[in-house]
Amino acid sequence: MTLALVLGGSGMACESEEAFPNLDELDQLRSLHSLGRQPPRDSTNRVDGVARAEALGDRLFHDAGLSRCGTVSCASCHGGEGLTVSTAKAEGCDGHLSERNPPTLLNVAYNRWFMWDGRADRLWSQAVLPLLNPVEMNSDAQVVRARLDAVPDYVTEYQAMFGTTPSEATDDALLANVGKAMAAYQRTLVRIDAPFDADVRRFLTAVEAGQAEADPAYLGLKTFLRKGQCIVCHKGPALTDDLFHNIGVEDTGPGGGGQWSVLTPLLDWEFNAASRHSDAPTGTIAARLQTLRTQANRETLEGAFRTPSLRNLTLTAPYMHTGEQATLEEVIDFYNDGGGAAGTFVGKKTETMVPLDLTNEEKRALVTLLQSMTGATHH
Ligand code: HEC
Ligand code: HEC
Repeated sequence: MTLALVLGGSGMACESEEAFPNLDELDQLRSLHSLGRQPPRDSTNRVDGVARAEALGDRLFHDAGLSRCGTVSCASCHGGEGLTVSTAKAEGCDGHLSERNPPTLLNVAYNRWFMWDGRADRLWSQAVLPLLNPVEMNSDAQVVRARLDAVPDYVTEYQAMFGTTPSEATDDALLANVGKAMAAYQRTLVRIDAPFDADVRRFLTAVEAGQAEADPAYLGLKTFLRKGQCIVCHKGPALTDDLFHNIGVEDTGPGGGGQWSVLTPLLDWEFNAASRHSDAPTGTIAARLQTLRTQANRETLEGAFRTPSLRNLTLTAPYMHTGEQATLEEVIDFYNDGGGAAGTFVGKKTETMVPLDLTNEEKRALVTLLQSMTGATHH
């Protein structure tokens, strides 16, 4: 009640507030468009960017023979135009359902952390998780080795890339290397150049000409930056801060603890960026793990999930780590309510999550803005 009153007050003040964008907002807007055409190279993966590894990774990604049941490939849950499924959860071996909503793999190599809770710090090591997960591919090194050995081409390519045959490799090295080939492939899954990028560029020109308010993107951008506060977390060209926040998505299940629950397992993980399977175990990427250790803070990380990119949303419904919201309209209503109700999620909601008091026009402008973020170029 008090909050609503306070916000109502600032809503009134909006009538006489300074023109949009102010100088800070102009900087934020300038940082939004033009995601780099190539995701950064991963120094912990020596075959990243190697065409042969991309080709092998492509085949492995689509090979159901790597699963114990023989019917589930990575593509089973990351397929179609959106490289995800259209249901809240996806089906793995023997009809089991995944615990969370599969994220899209479009633009995945721009990410800094992987999984909704960030329990993998590298794209290649992430791949080990679905391979071994009993409700996903239910596999292990024996099953993977047998499959590679059954396809002569796989053995040749694997040896050319990693210097041993699959049967000579230790179990862990085999899984890490299969992950590295798959990661090389996934780095090519880029979809950029959205109408949004052109709209922001045009809007910036309109600002210079003193015509901001006349631009069709005015209300959407203004609401995204100002009243909606979306820019606090969805910033930069990928529209994410690469961090974790508790926004109160309904989840009191075993995975509801978010990043806080996975910190220690990640720091101790035999496949993390500082591990012996990493090709740069003492580099700057590995050093970030130490930052995690020193900054670990239960208050902010319990129930916190990774801020997803907002690119390509029209291809990736439903939304959130639970897939609880079917449409972008529902997402906006969730934020307009200040996130989920107390008691429906684990931990403490971040202070940024307060009721927004958006008008219907502002809600529609936000939905239109989000829709415009789907990329035109897929290469
Ligand atoms: C049964 C369905 C299923 C299969 C099979 C599957 N995934 Fe996933 N994938 C998911 C789910 C669910 C998540 C989210 C898990 C979480 O965050 O807890 C996910 C997350 C990911 C992510 C993290 C993306 C991000 O933005 O953080 C990557 C990368 C990924 N999967 C790649 C793969 C690869 C590679 C394979 C094959 C080795 C694979 N997946 C197999 C369901 C699946
Ligand atoms: C405090 C940080 C924060 C703010 C502010 C914020 N978001 Fe988010 N957003 C997140 C996080 C974290 C998630 C994932 C939460 C989860 O699944 O538990 C998310 C998820 C989403 C999703 C779902 C994406 C997907 O792939 O499932 C959309 C859409 C979205 N936000 C849009 C917005 C809009 C629009 C605003 C402003 C009205 C906004 N966000 C404000 C952090 C934030």
